Amino acid sequence: MNKISIIGAGMTGATAAHWLAEREFADLVLVDVVEGMPQGKGLDLLEAMPVIGRDVNIVGSNDYSATHDSDIIIITAGIARKPGMSRDDLLKTNAEIVGAAATETLKHSPNAIYIILTNPLDTMAYLAMKKTGLPRERVIGQAGILDSARMRAFVAMETGVSVENIDCYVLGGHGDEMVPLTRHSNIAGVPLKEYIPADKLDAIVARTRKGGGEIVNLLKTGSAYYAPAAACAQMAEAILKDKHLIVPCAAYMNGEYGLNDMYFGVPVMLGRGGLERIIEYRLDDDEKAMFEKSAAAVKETHEALKSLVKI
Ligand code: NAI
Ligand code: 2OP
Repeated sequence: MNKISIIGAGMTGATAAHWLAEREFADLVLVDVVEGMPQGKGLDLLEAMPVIGRDVNIVGSNDYSATHDSDIIIITAGIARKPGMSRDDLLKTNAEIVGAAATETLKHSPNAIYIILTNPLDTMAYLAMKKTGLPRERVIGQAGILDSARMRAFVAMETGVSVENIDCYVLGGHGDEMVPLTRHSNIAGVPLKEYIPADKLDAIVARTRKGGGEIVNLLKTGSAYYAPAAACAQMAEAILKDKHLIVPCAAYMNGEYGLNDMYFGVPVMLGRGGLERIIEYRLDDDEKAMFEKSAAAVKETHEALKSLVKI
């Protein structure tokens, strides 16, 4: 059986375990600093397996040794946004947590592929890659699947069409400058612009960009977890089942889209090697301008990280 370890057994970590257990393709380990909590959540989830008929082993631990020989490490450890906080406010605390989680887990699982969720996402993925020294194929950030899923959900709400018929691509950094690509998004092959009036489409784009904040403002005590965790599970499944699935993820840029030495949300192909390919869309001038603005915001956070942490 494959093995996935989830570092941080809070809202997103435990919910990712839930989605993953349902899919029954890997045993699971939950690790957290809070004593008893990952063990309790792990045992509770394990006890649900007879009910849903899944043969998945699930354990919780406060010790990284439990992650030994994992195929995938998902890092969600950190603090989440509170109302009024930007993702970048999280930078310093989460850099220390993610840096340690990445290097410690690598000692136990030298062949693992990393999925990073902790915010600020693009910069935490960059940090994990630099700290572990792994090639970019093995450190991938989750953001674009979530942001695109939000847009898909809003399009479905507007049109009444099944979410399965709706393909949206939200690229760029995981922040307010993210880039919802309406020209590349479609409903059963029909471009969104032909299906939805311009004012309504603009509203969907704006709501997508603020999608994380919308949930934070509603929850008040934390940020989204069902959809982000489902996105992590989809990435893990695509990798372990070698699906060659193309989805938007944060990837290390090595000249693609004219960007270098930074993480950025782009369409990637996921398979057993991790990130197998980056797909480059042909962008028009407006899209290029949005990309540049978003990349500048991500670069700024990368620079802030470099001033705080030695990498
Ligand atoms: P949470 O607070 O529910 O869970 C975080 C967990 O990390 C806590 O249980 C905490 O005890 C644990 N933790 C802290 N330090 C640790 C350490 N050194 N080792 C192991 N565990 C440690 O927060 P939630 O909602 O799960 O969010 C986690 C992170 O994911 C936040 O940074 C949040 O902003 C980010 N996030 C990112 C998304 C994305 O799309 N990239 C979407 C949703 C959340
Ligand atoms: C979100 O977009 C908090 O980044 C997280 O919901």
